[in-house]
Amino acid sequence: MIYLDYAATTPISENALNTYNEISRKYYGNSQSIHNIGLEANNIVELAKKQLGKILNCNSDGIFFTSSGSEANYLSITSILKGNKKKGNHIITTMTEHSSILNLFNELEKDGFNVTYLTSDIYGRISLDELEKSLRPDTILTSISFVNSEIGTIQDIKKIGSLLRKNNVIFHTDAVQAFGKIVIDVNELNIDSISFSSHKIYGPKGVGFCYINPDVKWSPIVSGTTHQKGFRSGTLDVPSISALTTAATDIYSELNNNYHYYSKLNSHFRNLLLNNQLPVTIYGTNQIPNIIGFSVEGIEGQYLMLECDKNGIAISTGSACKVGLQDPSSTMLAIGLTRDAARQFVRISFGKFTNFTHINKLVEVIKELRENS
Ligand SMILES: Cc1ncc(COP(=O)(O)O)c(C=O)c1O
Repeated sequence: MIYLDYAATTPISENALNTYNEISRKYYGNSQSIHNIGLEANNIVELAKKQLGKILNCNSDGIFFTSSGSEANYLSITSILKGNKKKGNHIITTMTEHSSILNLFNELEKDGFNVTYLTSDIYGRISLDELEKSLRPDTILTSISFVNSEIGTIQDIKKIGSLLRKNNVIFHTDAVQAFGKIVIDVNELNIDSISFSSHKIYGPKGVGFCYINPDVKWSPIVSGTTHQKGFRSGTLDVPSISALTTAATDIYSELNNNYHYYSKLNSHFRNLLLNNQLPVTIYGTNQIPNIIGFSVEGIEGQYLMLECDKNGIAISTGSACKVGLQDPSSTMLAIGLTRDAARQFVRISFGKFTNFTHINKLVEVIKELRENS
């Protein structure tokens, strides 16, 4: 099988798996226990926080572990809103966020928050001007993802961060797709709150984390919680936290090489499409090179995905499939496509086992489908 869906998830690396095994065997204590075995487990967690803080250039005191990127988004945003209730009830996000943010903002709206959804241009970028005009004295927080998960567009996080800092609005960014793909300097980018996932970077599934600037107020969702200063209840999964840290360290040490390799694969795909005169539209701009969101004229995304699957290639439609019908991708609708055009959307994403032959095979399948359509 040719796997071209690394943005959905990645296989765990040997290194991360070895760390998981070793830590599971040696450090089985509850990191909250105050005897020596507990303290040893807690030391592992503290070491992981220090290492992640170093990679991201942020104060490791603000790091909290969660079960996923989705939960990191949910817990950081809701804890911050709870801690800043007095400031107001206006919050801002975009129409191109991951469902874990969009669904949360939907709920927050039902709970009485006033939500502004920023529009985006055809490339998936928000406008700083629109953001500035949306700010109000009662705006608490703005959530804008670092990299779009479907078309790979990178937002201008530095400019967004400084605009929000200047206006005293808390800035949360979902960095799940940016993590391990580009350098993230939390301090330099004026980020107050940021979330990550382990399984997108060859770490174990079921673990993620977020960072909240220790100067930003937040309040526990469930009072009385003792783990992680009350941020999240539940005994910490020390082996997964440690394995995630191994995966993060490895991916950041390979970042430049990977970036260049994925850029070459990306160009190879685009050149093959051109050389074969295939009617393909690629979406986005200023993207990370490992994600390509595109559509093939006249071919439904779900059909293309299933045909690829039949030919031993795993790609994604970037949206949830239901029996007999396909919801169009929310990003595609947000960047202005009609529902029919959005239904043609598919995403491929590269990882460390992707090679040029994989891309050749995919283009062959697209070519055949076009010839037979
Ligand atoms: C941008 C973005 N945010 C959040 C998530 C959710 O991460 P997790 O699967 O760890 O909950 C994803 C996963 O696809 C994502 O792409």
